[in-house]
Amino acid sequence: MKKRLVVLTGAGMSAESGISTFRDSGGLWDKYPVEQVATPEGFAANPQLVLDFYNTRRKELLNVKPNEGHLGIAALEKDFDVRIITQNVDNLHERAGSSQVLHLHGELTKVRSTGDESLIYELPPDKYDVKIGDKCEKGFQLRPHIVWFGEAVPMFDEAVRTAQSADIFVVIGTSLNVYPAAGLLNYVPKGIPVYLIDPKEVNTYRNDIRFLKKGASEGVRELTEILRKGLSE
Ligand code: OAD
Repeated sequence: MKKRLVVLTGAGMSAESGISTFRDSGGLWDKYPVEQVATPEGFAANPQLVLDFYNTRRKELLNVKPNEGHLGIAALEKDFDVRIITQNVDNLHERAGSSQVLHLHGELTKVRSTGDESLIYELPPDKYDVKIGDKCEKGFQLRPHIVWFGEAVPMFDEAVRTAQSADIFVVIGTSLNVYPAAGLLNYVPKGIPVYLIDPKEVNTYRNDIRFLKKGASEGVRELTEILRKGLSE
């Protein structure tokens, strides 16, 4: 049976595809006040601004491709039972060929009803513009299918179960600043190999982590070598 490899990814995973991270200098939260574009209060105050922010992110997604890191993680499915938990709202893991991707913070390619959160719609591949007046079948305005600050994280319990089931755990490109996602490391079983790929130092409060201080593409290449070596031992 294949070993279960659980991978927690953040914005740095997609940085080499040309998508901005949030907290690096020049990151998205430098340019847009987070409380205006990523909170329910921001949406209530100025829905147009918030729709425009996500329309821009969605349009950007049409022009970018998975990078070598995404492709390398997808390729690991040959030898491992790979489960991705991503904080990213892009679809680059799926487009790279990964088959098991849990989106903790929602998905750019989906919208949902503001009046009935069970009504979630996949947008057509070429549609990125959501407008005021675009409504669900019950007549409520549509909003981005994104978990905003101050909102519950519906996929968290499933992510915890996935983290607990890991034989190997890997963290890639997240500053681990945002909870509950950052807390997932606490559920990773003690004694299993844990790797972290990031070009910058990240504080994890664990001392059993093997740190690969590299960007996602290079880091995944090195990780693949380490894991393949482990398979042949
Ligand atoms: P951050 O912007 O906080 O952190 C990005 C991390 O990626 C940092 O640790 C960088 O050092 C690292 N990084 C930069 N370039 C990289 C590269 N080429 N390869 C690998 N790593 C690289 O982004 P997140 O931790 O993902 O939530 O942020 C978490 C959440 O905060 C996001 O999901 C988003 C945001 O607010 C919502 O919008 C709800």
